[in-house]
Amino acid sequence: MKSYRIGLFGLWRGMSFIPILKGFEDVTVAAFCEKDEGKLKSALEQVPGAKACRDFDELLEQNLDAVFLCNYFHQHAECAVKAMERGIAVFSECTSAPTLASCVKLVETAERTGGRYMIAENYPFSAALLEMKRLCGEGTLGRILYAEGEYNHTCPKEELAALTPGKYHWRAWLPRTYYVTHTLGPLMHVTGQMPVKVNAIAVHSDVLEQYDDFRHNYDAFAMMNCVTDGGALFRFTGCAAMGSPSGYRFVGENGSCETGRTLGSSVNVTYHHWLIPEGRQGSQTYAPSWPANGELAERAGHGGGDFWTVYNFLEYLRGGPEPFFNVYRGACMSAVGILGWRSSMEDGKTIRIPDFTKKADRDLVRDDDLTPFPDENGRVTLPCATGKAVNGR
Ligand SMILES: NC(=O)c1ccc[n+]([C@@H]2O[C@H](COP(=O)([O-])OP(=O)(O)OC[C@H]3O[C@@H](n4cnc5c(N)ncnc54)[C@H](O)[C@@H]3O)[C@@H](O)[C@H]2O)c1
Repeated sequence: MKSYRIGLFGLWRGMSFIPILKGFEDVTVAAFCEKDEGKLKSALEQVPGAKACRDFDELLEQNLDAVFLCNYFHQHAECAVKAMERGIAVFSECTSAPTLASCVKLVETAERTGGRYMIAENYPFSAALLEMKRLCGEGTLGRILYAEGEYNHTCPKEELAALTPGKYHWRAWLPRTYYVTHTLGPLMHVTGQMPVKVNAIAVHSDVLEQYDDFRHNYDAFAMMNCVTDGGALFRFTGCAAMGSPSGYRFVGENGSCETGRTLGSSVNVTYHHWLIPEGRQGSQTYAPSWPANGELAERAGHGGGDFWTVYNFLEYLRGGPEPFFNVYRGACMSAVGILGWRSSMEDGKTIRIPDFTKKADRDLVRDDDLTPFPDENGRVTLPCATGKAVNGR
């Protein structure tokens, strides 16, 4: 049996994939690259035979079939490009790319090399969101007109500080629209629709401004609206601090379904009272079961989503279908976060999202390298919070 050799780059988030990968008979966790000695040591305790590499280039020399990019949020695209140039398949944590120019480079590298690429967006693969995909797909809700997603990740100051090590760490400079895959990803996966235009408004928080010693993104959340190619409206946050659990809702012409917020992992489906399908209730709340692999998914993180992303990617490596979250959808989600941020700085102006499958659209943005993430000298070309001047600190 062929054994797929996987390398992991970054062992904070990356560590959570080790037990999942070890569960597949045809996978060898072959090598790691991590500069933090403590994290590296604990990964090597789990996989004693793996090679510890000095840097990413050395990792790519380990005869790998695939690399898992779990390094810094804004450095995935450059690594994905290097890997695909060497014929190594890419499983990339969010986000695909930090600038529009790097979205173009990523897509064109995948096209030219025939590289296999998947953005490892996990939230769409909870039992609740898979059930809502089934419900929207069966058609009883009618055409989907509206969908919303709220991803809330709040924690105490000490925890935020621990998640933000170093003056130029990406979490200190992350605008509220950029971490968009956990909301937009589920909306795209459930409906099958692509965003074509975006606008956004960010809302400043005085409380977050008090954390200025280590974080400069003082907005509590940004709310984005996208018109889709299916004529629907998506309304969603990036990573938000809105004080409630995350939640998702899909509204069709005949009724709606939702999960999260006060429902936890249950799903509610409600039909207009005059359009209740035969054999259904007008409104029902239930805990959905897994379509398959429930026992394995149950053991993995993020409501089972971490299992499904790895499972889908391995199927792809084995010659199975291209995953839903391919390079075009990855680039599109990054572009929504990037252009949503530009919109919020222009008072909510509506901006068209490039269609990265089209060269003419790529040409419009191929030199657009504006970024809120600092280089090694702390230089940025965009502010990361509303009301904050570029390089104004
Ligand atoms: N999908 C999810 O649910 C989920 C959850 C957590 C994090 N993430 C994503 O995972 C990525 C990593 O986030 P994180 O939470 O692990 O925090 P992080 O970005 O601080 O961790 C990155 C890790 O990579 C290592 N690293 C980075 N550059 C390196 C280099 N050049 N050489 C060696 N080691 C290097 C760092 O030492 C660190 O341990 C981010 O993109 C984040 O968005 C996704």
